[in-house]
Amino acid sequence: MTQDQLKQAVAQAAVDLILPQLDEKSIVGVGTGSTANFFIDALALHKTAFDGAVASSEATASRLKAHGIPVYELNTVSELEFYVDGADESDEHLNLIKGGGAALTREKIVAAVARRFICIADASKLVPVLGNFPLPVEVIPMARSHVARQLVKLGGDPVYREGVVTDNGNVILDVHNLQITDPVTLESQINAIVGVVTNGLFAARPADVLLLGTAAGVKQLEARQGR
Ligand code: 5RP
Repeated sequence: MTQDQLKQAVAQAAVDLILPQLDEKSIVGVGTGSTANFFIDALALHKTAFDGAVASSEATASRLKAHGIPVYELNTVSELEFYVDGADESDEHLNLIKGGGAALTREKIVAAVARRFICIADASKLVPVLGNFPLPVEVIPMARSHVARQLVKLGGDPVYREGVVTDNGNVILDVHNLQITDPVTLESQINAIVGVVTNGLFAARPADVLLLGTAAGVKQLEARQGR
């Protein structure tokens, strides 16, 4: 199977997982990226089974609207049962690196509101230790050099993602050469740097379920209780 076929399979598995629990009042949180796009396309076939969606990026909002799915502002929504999104890396505890598509801040906000975060990814994304994928950090533009110096002190090699402006008007530093053995601590250390909006570690709030596309089919991994 190609990587796209694996992404399509996990996107369909996510629709199959949430659909029985949706009703005409349900609003679904939707992530960003190629795997999330497959999810949107599969979900759109059932658009009469739920009310609408909250989008984690302008690109996702456009795709949802193109399918005729109503898109709500998060501030107008009080309940979000599910957030479905891809990832750049996951460890076995469902701590994630996200932000390859520069949408990490809005993704983290929608994930924080949702009761269940379902991550969808092809098998290449599951790693023993996070950090091979450079960790994205969203930064207020005037703080870029200051934040980069602090990230070096934390042991990383930050690289400015040229030409990218986030939906929030900020810039991205991709931090290379991190071996992230304690993702909860590193997430909070990086977020404490003045000028950082947020970083792409999803460890304080990891995924609840990981649907992993493998050649042998879709595997479902659950986060351990009480971590
Ligand atoms: C965007 C993200 C994506 O979820 C992540 O980059 C995975 O993308 P893809 O599904 O295209 O592999 O975090 O900011």
